[in-house]
Amino acid sequence: MIQMFHVTKAYPGDPPALVDVNLTVEKGEFVFLTGPSGAGKTTLLRLVFCAEPATRGQILVGGRNVARIRQGSIPFLRRNIGVVFQDFKLLPHRTVLDNVALALDVLGVPRDESRQRANRMLKLVGLQHKTESLPLKLSGGEQQRVVIARALVNEPALLLADEPTGNLDPELTQEILTLLQAANVRGTTVVVACLLTLVAYRAWIPSAAIRSTCGTLLCRTSFPSLNSNGRRSPTIFRLKRGFSRRSAPR
Ligand SMILES: Nc1ncnc2c1ncn2[C@@H]1O[C@H](COP(=O)(O)OP(=O)(O)O)[C@@H](O)[C@H]1O
Ligand SMILES: [Mg+2]
Repeated sequence: MIQMFHVTKAYPGDPPALVDVNLTVEKGEFVFLTGPSGAGKTTLLRLVFCAEPATRGQILVGGRNVARIRQGSIPFLRRNIGVVFQDFKLLPHRTVLDNVALALDVLGVPRDESRQRANRMLKLVGLQHKTESLPLKLSGGEQQRVVIARALVNEPALLLADEPTGNLDPELTQEILTLLQAANVRGTTVVVACLLTLVAYRAWIPSAAIRSTCGTLLCRTSFPSLNSNGRRSPTIFRLKRGFSRRSAPR
């Protein structure tokens, strides 16, 4: 689903955010992208979503080289990618139902159908009783479920979630992860960037071997395809912070 070959991303005047990253995410995988703040998690997701170009290296998404996609064709790539990014906020003056349905409206889905599908998705995330509420009337956890419903309503092949449980307590974190896992079971490849706290994610992580890779990526941890709970197990990529900063002149 995602292949990165020797990808470097540098912003002018700063040491690179990502250096020589090599990574493969298989179709159907559930991946945690972890590492401390500033390690480049958000940057990596933005490259996959074509929000910016890589400075060096090659990125394939669904087999397509994103550097070769014309600007005008990027929206077509994005149809297959759901995103939960901090800078895509809910519209405060539209109802929960509208917020989710609008994601389909912009794709040209007829209004009746988009409302129907949005209702179905909101039911899947347990918010069928809140469809007519405004986002600000919801709790933080409920708002995040709306954001996830909006990202998933088009049944994307790939979901990119940037710290989707950032401000939530452990119980809500588990709830959100369960929703993402359900999407994964329905066939969406899921990549979640997070500051991995082993406590919060312990349920997902049986003991596993760590394999080293090169570049900014410190390790990839893979698991057997099902763990003891019968769940599909995740893969963890860990980004190392300051890979280049350490070698950069002071
Ligand atoms: N638009 C930008 N301009 C300049 N530097 C940036 C920009 N976005 C990110 N960076 C830098 O890239 C590095 C990685 O940031 P980021 O990807 O946000 O890390 P993370 O999401 O792991 O916390 C940081 O040093 C950050 O300051
Ligand atoms: Mg980030």
